Amino acid sequence: MSNEDSDSGVDPLFADQDPIFARKELLHVGHVPEENRIVGRDTEIESVAQEIGAVVRDDPPNNVMIYGKTGTGKSLVSRHVANRARTAAHSNSVECTVVYIDCSEADTETRVTRQIATTLKQETPYEQRIPLRGVGTMEYYQHIWRILDTYLDSVLLILDEIDKLADSNVLMQLSRAREAGKTDCYIGVIGISNKIQYREQLDERIDSSFGHRELFFHPYDAEQLREIMRNRTDAFQPGVLGAGTIELCAALAAKKHGDARKAIEILKEAGELARRNGDSKITDDHINQAQNVAEINRIEELTSGGTIHAKLALYSLASLIITGSKESYSTREVYERYEQMCDLAGYDSVTENGLYKQLKEQAFLGVIESTKTGGGRSQGSYLLHRLVTNPEHIVKAVHRDASLDALPSFEDLEDISEVQDQSSQTTLGS
Ligand SMILES: Nc1ncnc2c1ncn2[C@@H]1O[C@H](COP(=O)(O)OP(=O)(O)O)[C@@H](O)[C@H]1O
Ligand SMILES: [Mg+2]
Repeated sequence: MSNEDSDSGVDPLFADQDPIFARKELLHVGHVPEENRIVGRDTEIESVAQEIGAVVRDDPPNNVMIYGKTGTGKSLVSRHVANRARTAAHSNSVECTVVYIDCSEADTETRVTRQIATTLKQETPYEQRIPLRGVGTMEYYQHIWRILDTYLDSVLLILDEIDKLADSNVLMQLSRAREAGKTDCYIGVIGISNKIQYREQLDERIDSSFGHRELFFHPYDAEQLREIMRNRTDAFQPGVLGAGTIELCAALAAKKHGDARKAIEILKEAGELARRNGDSKITDDHINQAQNVAEINRIEELTSGGTIHAKLALYSLASLIITGSKESYSTREVYERYEQMCDLAGYDSVTENGLYKQLKEQAFLGVIESTKTGGGRSQGSYLLHRLVTNPEHIVKAVHRDASLDALPSFEDLEDISEVQDQSSQTTLGS
């Protein structure tokens, strides 16, 4: 495209067109694509609509909890359906609004209530000032009830990554608000979690007043990932994507996780790499490199919510695989390595059962796979853990946590592995 923009007032220093990206924002995670670009989630969209749709007719919505692995469209579908419900409600003259909270950032009751209050203020003519600090949860609740009661018939509250929320009091307050006479406004909560175990925690923490339905989102297959990415090719300048680029990205992302976020991230990262190298086309090589970076990012993200012991547990399994000769290890073996790693990193170790729980958690997140092995009738069965992903990625992701600097790097582990091959020695870190 020859587009002489000399009149546009852009500083010539920045006037050069990006050689790779045309609309990079299409590749941002928070980007909500238009309806016709949402792939393979018709059933999920309908299910969410069924739970919350009553608000459109000024009737009470259900609460709903959405579970599913990362990158399965939970946040996207929730925002999409909630926004459509708001629009439909407005055309029925029902005052409805949507509040989206990312609980990985707003992770305490005070933060959540503050954010709900300030968002509601933005969405309504409410004039009272809401202090950002120095006040407690009670005051934020009061603003919330006042705004809801004065201006709104219903509110749809999306609590994304709800498992990061330190306590569930806010859920209880919201679900009891009407019967406690705080407000007449209907409140529908859409809670989202990557962790299925959160179901049990939730049941322990809340009572029946937070009645809710549950939905489960499943990973995408390669064809769906291909279509999701094809719908975003206009993020790139013409000719930048080769014929097989999207196929390769989709195949890489589908192979392990069916994660749309990862597929898009690979595409974006490959574009960045091409740009940095001054290349005008994205090659298979860029994509393979981008896949490594995306995988490390993904692991970092998955482990970021957990305790340091989740990282130590993963690292221990990865280091066993790198330095040893087996693909999978028992809980006991991982635990022994883990205790050594805790020593090195300066952390007190948890019990073997505590470590087992960490491993179970990682198995749910899809980072590891644990299979029961029959050890014969006399020995009973035990679990063997293997990594779903490349151990190098785990080690590199864990090393991004500065508090774990003392652990051997990937290169160190490889060296140890070579030494062991020669001397068949089995200890590490001594
Ligand atoms: N069905 C889909 N169609 C188009 N884009 C999708 C679809 N599902 C997910 N995406 C995109 O993939 C990324 C991750 O989706 P997201 O909804 O954040 O997943 P989750 O909340 O389950 O982790 C986002 O950029 C989103 O726009
Ligand atoms: Mg999400």
